[in-house]
Amino acid sequence: MPLSISIVILAAGQGKRMKSDLPKVLQPLAGKPLLGHVIDTAATLAPKSLHVVYGHGGEQVRAALGSTLSAAVPQHSWVLQAEQLGTGHAVQQALPALHDGELALVLYGDVPLIRATTLRELIALAGTDAMSLLTVLLDDPTGYGRIVRDAAGRVLGIVEQKDATPEQLRIREGNTGVMAVPVVHLRRWLGRLRNANAQGEYYLTDIIAMAVDDGVKVTPLVAPTIEEVLGVNDKLQLAELEAELRKSRARELMLAGVTLVDPARIDVRGTLTTGRDVFIDVNAVFEGAVTLGHRVRIGPNCVLRDCHIADDVRVNAHCVIEEASVGAASIIGPFARLRPGTQLADDVHIGNFVEVKNSSMDTGAKANHLAYVGDATVGARVNIGAGTIIANYDGANKHHTTIGADAHTGSNSVLVAPLTVGEGATIGAGSTVSKDVPAGKLTVARAKQVTLDAWKRPQRKR
Ligand code: UD1
Ligand code: MG
Repeated sequence: MPLSISIVILAAGQGKRMKSDLPKVLQPLAGKPLLGHVIDTAATLAPKSLHVVYGHGGEQVRAALGSTLSAAVPQHSWVLQAEQLGTGHAVQQALPALHDGELALVLYGDVPLIRATTLRELIALAGTDAMSLLTVLLDDPTGYGRIVRDAAGRVLGIVEQKDATPEQLRIREGNTGVMAVPVVHLRRWLGRLRNANAQGEYYLTDIIAMAVDDGVKVTPLVAPTIEEVLGVNDKLQLAELEAELRKSRARELMLAGVTLVDPARIDVRGTLTTGRDVFIDVNAVFEGAVTLGHRVRIGPNCVLRDCHIADDVRVNAHCVIEEASVGAASIIGPFARLRPGTQLADDVHIGNFVEVKNSSMDTGAKANHLAYVGDATVGARVNIGAGTIIANYDGANKHHTTIGADAHTGSNSVLVAPLTVGEGATIGAGSTVSKDVPAGKLTVARAKQVTLDAWKRPQRKR
């Protein structure tokens, strides 16, 4: 029977080189903390338990990712490593949470792109009396522990950069830090660690030589891609991985049939679900969960967060859409803003410099120019004239406005909420209406136009 898997994520390091007040493992990659990526990937392996060793910025890390961890694996724990005495010491802190019948998989909180398929392969190489080790072949392995093999290619141990001989420094195979080790052996080996080395640390890597001594099989697995084992230490590496992720997400989208005008100029920070023949122009940013229906077109420089865009919608340039849903064949923008709680039915047109918030607009409704629609229920085929403002806020409370089907609001009208506008009503341009507007009639609320026949233009005094 295969051993059950328990995962230990090492995340206690400080990350000095980030030069940031935010702990390293909370630095965002594609909108998600580094450690969040690792937890999510770990969860896809359905481990029996998951333990995060934390230290620097501890409370901040727990606060930011507590609910992510709870949601990821029911059996989980936060393990405090108060002093960072090395990777071996870090794993030691998690030992009380591990059981002898398990296989421990060690991951790093600052290696965010590790792939579940690779981890499954690694796990398959370990067992009751066998451990496995993820390595990487690098042109420049500076900083990495080196994998020392014998003439037959068998792994003998790992030597850290600072402890290596000049000859060992020429080894190009580096230790990624990721390994799968039977807990019963791990416990014994960790108990034997000493810190008599160049850094005065308890090296997890020393257990490899112990395994060889004890006759436990050590199987190395060379990582299929370098990107997935890259650690993040500074903002430069963070940006490099961001570019890597951008590239791979763009690739997935294109292989799913999406047309990207420039795959280097799209940012997906969350999940983007797409229908057929979707077209996305440059500099689009997608955050949270976004769904685009068939034949949706997204213009340049748009930001979409947590929204649903139905089939055949055109979002023109420079739009911001957040927590909104847009019905089929609607046209949005350019320069439109849909704020949270916006629900547009089919064939709705929202034009330039129009802001909609917490409002529904029924089929065929239009607000084509310069308007604010807030806290409103807008009926079918309503035309919101240019410059219409729904004054929903009295300085203390927000109020609702209902506009019946087929009503037209004139240019530059102010609708003071709470207010009901009847079906088919027309409000004259420039009106400020604060009382309900009856259906089917013209309502005007503005000073009457007068012409003064006797008026003469003043003349300049000599
Ligand atoms: C470690 C490995 C090295 C490997 C390299 C890959 C050891 C001794 N060395 O070196 O072989 O090539 O990673 O990047 O394992 N951490 C803790 N507590 C500690 C120390 C570290 O949680 O006391 C965590 C860090 O947050 C980080 C990870 O462990 O996520 C690795 O620590 P780091 O200091 O980067 O180790 P390296 O010296 O780079
Ligand atoms: Mg490191």
